[in-house]
Formats: sequence, C-alpha cells, structure tokens
Amino acid sequence: MNTYKIAAIPADGIGPEVIAAGLQALEALARRDGGFALDVTHFDWGSERYKQTGALMPEDGAQQLRDFDAIFFGAVGAPDVPDHITLWGLRLPICQGFDQYANVRPTKILPGITSPLANVKTGDLDWVIVRENSEGEYSGIGGRAHKGMPEEVATEVSIFTRVGVLRIMRYAFQLAQSRPRKLLTVVTKSNAQRYGMVMWDEIAAEVSKEFPDVTWDKVLVDAMTVRMVKDPQSLDTIVATNLHADILSDLAGALAGSLGVAPTGNIDPERRFPSMFEPIHGSAFDITGKGIANPVATFWTAAQMLDHLGETAAATRLMRAVEKVCAEGTLTPDVGGSATTQQVTDAVCDAIRGEN
Ligand code: NAI
Ligand code: MG
Repeated sequence: MNTYKIAAIPADGIGPEVIAAGLQALEALARRDGGFALDVTHFDWGSERYKQTGALMPEDGAQQLRDFDAIFFGAVGAPDVPDHITLWGLRLPICQGFDQYANVRPTKILPGITSPLANVKTGDLDWVIVRENSEGEYSGIGGRAHKGMPEEVATEVSIFTRVGVLRIMRYAFQLAQSRPRKLLTVVTKSNAQRYGMVMWDEIAAEVSKEFPDVTWDKVLVDAMTVRMVKDPQSLDTIVATNLHADILSDLAGALAGSLGVAPTGNIDPERRFPSMFEPIHGSAFDITGKGIANPVATFWTAAQMLDHLGETAAATRLMRAVEKVCAEGTLTPDVGGSATTQQVTDAVCDAIRGEN
C-alpha cells in the first residue's frame, strides 16, 4: 500500500475550514479504497504567525516541505496585514522555490450549479486554464526609489525567458492533446506589449509544430474576456501568462457558478519538488467562521492531488461524489443553497462510502 506524505497548510480565513473538509473527504476515500493511506502533517503557518513572530513561515520553511509528496494549501491573507506581505511571505515562495511552473485550473459547470450566463448549462463550459506560474509579471523584479518624495518612482518588470515560455507551452499543448477536443487557445497581448508577448507568440507557434494533432488559436487577452462570456463552447484548454491567467481564471470561476468551486494545482511537472494543491479563492473574511464556506473547490483540488499522486481511481470517485452531492442540491449559499460546509462534507463522505 502507498502511503503519501501530505503537508497541510490551512493558513488564514476560511482556509482552515475548507482544508478540514478536504481532509475528511480524503480520509473517507483512503478508508473506502484501502489501496492508499495519507500521512498528514499540519503546519500552522500564516498571518497569525506573522503577527506573533514577524514571518508567515520559518526561514527554512520550504526546506521543511521538500520531502513531502504534496502540499495541501488553504488560503493566505488577513484584513490587518498587507496582501503583498502575505502572498510573498508564504504562497509565492513555495510556488517559486519549488519551481511549480504550471498552474492548472480546471473549470466546468458542475451539475446542480447554475452559471450566471443565460442558456449556458453543464457541458457547455469545460475548460482547463494553464497559468505560467514562475515568471512573467510576477517575477518580483523591480523596486522603488525616492520613497515618499514627490519624484517617487516604482518599477515592476515582467520577465519572459525562452526556457520558461517553452516549458509552459509544451505543458499546455500536451494537456490539450490529452483532452478529447485537442483544442488550445493561447492568450496574448502582443499588440501592446511588443517584446515579451511577441516572443510568447513566436514560441507558441514553434511548439505547435510538435503537436500537429492539436488545433490552436491565439486571442488577445481583452478579447478573451468577451469570448469567455459570449462563446464559452469555443474554448477547451487555455494557456496564459501569470497575470492574464490569474485574472481570467477568477472570471472562469465566476462563470462556472462561484469562486467557491474553482480548484488549482501548482505543478512541478518534472517532479523534482512537491506540487501544491489549493482552492483558487482567498481567505474570504466576509464569511470566515460562519461555517458556510463552499468546500467544493477544495474537494476538486484534492482530486487533482490524487491524480498527481497516481491515485486516479480515487480522484474519479471523489469527483463523482462531488457531482452527485451538487446535483442533489446540497449546496452552500454562494451557489444558491442553504447547506453548511459540514453538511456538504458529510454528504460527499457518505457518497464516497456508498459508491460501488
Ligand atoms: P476571496 O476569494 O477571499 O473572496 C472573494 C469573494 O468570494 C468573497 O465574497 C467570498 O466570500 C467569496 N468566496 C471565496 N471563496 C468562497 C468559498 N469557498 N465559499 C463561498 N464563498 C467564497 O478574495 P478577496 O476578498 O479578494 O481576498 C481576501 C483575502 O484573500 C485577501 O487578503 C487576498 O490577498 C487573499 N487571497 C489569497 C489567495 C490565496 O491564498 N491563494 C487568493 C486570492 C486572495
Ligand atoms: Mg487570483
């Protein structure tokens, strides 16, 4: 039997609520399946630790995570700590330190959940957004001079490397090739950004030659927002830069019903380091502690984690259970229901246990 070492970092806001739910579902699967076990270590890193010690995680934090098989992450961010401190103090050092360069964000309308788009139903919207996760606009390169003076200046430099763009394009083309429609849309902004984005386009065209069976097209990011809303059926796999995909995937989550159902995997495809799985949403201060956070995004990312670990049967079972519970109408308020986090979690665990 395989035992997987999982690092759980629930962190802030509703993070602990949804990670607890996710771990219950994973436990139910492990017990039901019998073929694998999870050895979960909890880390109390996050904004509370920052307020007490001045750091969100210990200095050797990444080192402590290195030998885990995967990281299961909640959300980071507190109302009284600036967002750039929380993001750069915990989530980004893990993503970048472990070179998790492919951020994979599946989106579809689950049965029982209504899209805000009129006439768009389950099946009409089934996308995977691949976000470049190691460089681009979030490279962290820049600085500020003349701080506080009238002549103050700030730079925020986007970095696009040939290696970085090549590897994310290959990943996206491969993923598109593995899906039934074999369809890839490359998001760009090469009309206005004439260096990095032009190289991005050129490398997409180069890599496309390695995948003659994949149909691909190129769309400017602004036009992409229109296409996602007006013609969701025309999209399948999507690849975009760090910033563009960050924004587009929130839109995708909303179009699929709620941010509360949108998952993501921060993947090191070469498996040199552990990959990290998390819901897309943040710490959601407005509903923290109310017991109504939607755990579906966390269940879905748990399924991504199981897939990554090679437990594909358990991943499929988990998604079947989630779809069944959604279809039956056991939903949290963000998707129009009145169930609590625990009620949805119990229903999903029951469905897992009841499955043949
Ligand atoms: P958010 O995702 O926390 O919340 C946006 C809206 O969606 C809120 O109305 C919230 O109640 C709702 N929502 C989010 N997740 C939900 C769920 N599971 N169930 C039901 N409703 C849900 O984004 P916001 O408000 O912009 O950010 C709050 C904090 O989270 C900030 O400090 C931000 O920096 C941080 N953040 C962290 C992320 C991460 O750790 N990966 C990602 C996004 C934001
Ligand atoms: Mg985001």
